[in-house]
Amino acid sequence: MAKKPLNIGMVGYGFMGRAHSNAFSQAPHFFDLPFQPVLKAACARNAEKLKAFADQWGYQSTETDWRKLIERKDIDLIDIAASNDMHMEIAIAAAAAGKMIMCEKPLGRNSTESRKMVEAVETAKVANMVWYNYRRIPAVTLAKQFIDEGKLGKIFHYRAKFLQDWTISADLPQGGQGLWRLDAGMAGSGVTGDLLAHCIDTSLWLNGGIDKVVGMTETFIKERHHNLTGKTEKVEIDDASLFLARYDNGSLGNFEATRYARGHKALYTLEINGENASIFWDLHDLHRLQYFDHRDEGRSRGWRSIHVTDGDHPYMSKWWVPGLQIGYEHSFVHQAADFIEGLGSGISAAPTFREAMATDLVTDAVLKSARNGQWESAKS
Ligand SMILES: NC(=O)c1ccc[n+]([C@@H]2O[C@H](COP(=O)([O-])OP(=O)(O)OC[C@H]3O[C@@H](n4cnc5c(N)ncnc54)[C@H](O)[C@@H]3O)[C@@H](O)[C@H]2O)c1
Repeated sequence: MAKKPLNIGMVGYGFMGRAHSNAFSQAPHFFDLPFQPVLKAACARNAEKLKAFADQWGYQSTETDWRKLIERKDIDLIDIAASNDMHMEIAIAAAAAGKMIMCEKPLGRNSTESRKMVEAVETAKVANMVWYNYRRIPAVTLAKQFIDEGKLGKIFHYRAKFLQDWTISADLPQGGQGLWRLDAGMAGSGVTGDLLAHCIDTSLWLNGGIDKVVGMTETFIKERHHNLTGKTEKVEIDDASLFLARYDNGSLGNFEATRYARGHKALYTLEINGENASIFWDLHDLHRLQYFDHRDEGRSRGWRSIHVTDGDHPYMSKWWVPGLQIGYEHSFVHQAADFIEGLGSGISAAPTFREAMATDLVTDAVLKSARNGQWESAKS
């Protein structure tokens, strides 16, 4: 019997529009899902480019106004893959129209926006999720399993970095297509909401809640040409952001993100040190989990590099034969599959909007602390 369709309306056709379209296309081939995702409509403002995108990915129709997309009766799910300034408005309207919502990260430009989004989806009782995809890289999911099984024992340290180098040139403008991340009005913040948000989400999932933080940010290039105003404008985003954290479980966190680390394109690394064991993961080697267990026999004790490709590793039985690795795009396929499975089981796939708001509370606290030099609560 044909499965009931899940009709998707996607807003945005950039980097994430492609990642999500691929995820919805691939998920039903590799996972036995309760609903069949259908690429019903793609939405963006430029009709010509949108048509080319829709044709390439197999969308059945297009809309150049996201409000029209939300009004459509034949759309079940609104997927927000647009820039951060659009998340709240689209999500609140979509919830009011009774649509399910998947939204890119960060949920809001700040926690005030995210709170309104949480209220909207909870009032409307619509399924919702935020695309914090790193949770679903099998090596990271395996780390979660190890922690939950108690392999690490009591956790002392959580360390994460997300390093890039693409904004070092003072000639790079801010604003507009592809450069909205440098415009604080559109992005909300700089690397704190863009890169650290990923590190924080993974850490909240792996190591539990953060109680308080003290942070430091810097904007190395103070003025840039603005593509939309045509003038030289002050740069309001943070180019680099570092913070220390105290977790509810007593462990200490140490985080850094920058777009000024020459030679690094997307170096997301995390390390967790527990009483019995430690874990290290690196996005550049994403199919491996480094694991050290102090309980191993002394002479052979050392860091193991686990090639996370076996059938008993998370998600891997759905893919190829053991030993063959998968990549970045598969984390989105897993997330789409988990969301659709959750619709069938009635168990929401994480992180929901409410769970993702916790990250925005931490990023708000980091930015506040960077302004006033004080420790700040990460929970309010
Ligand atoms: N999960 C991840 O790892 C990850 C990675 C990259 C980006 N993101 C997030 O995804 C979102 C999009 O980022 P991106 O890199 O794809 O950006 P992008 O610049 O490549 O694409 C942004 C898209 O938003 C669309 N858009 C903007 N305003 C619109 C409007 N009013 N109506 C319709 N469409 C509109 C643009 O047309 C464009 O297609 C951001 O929130 C970003 O933080 C997440």
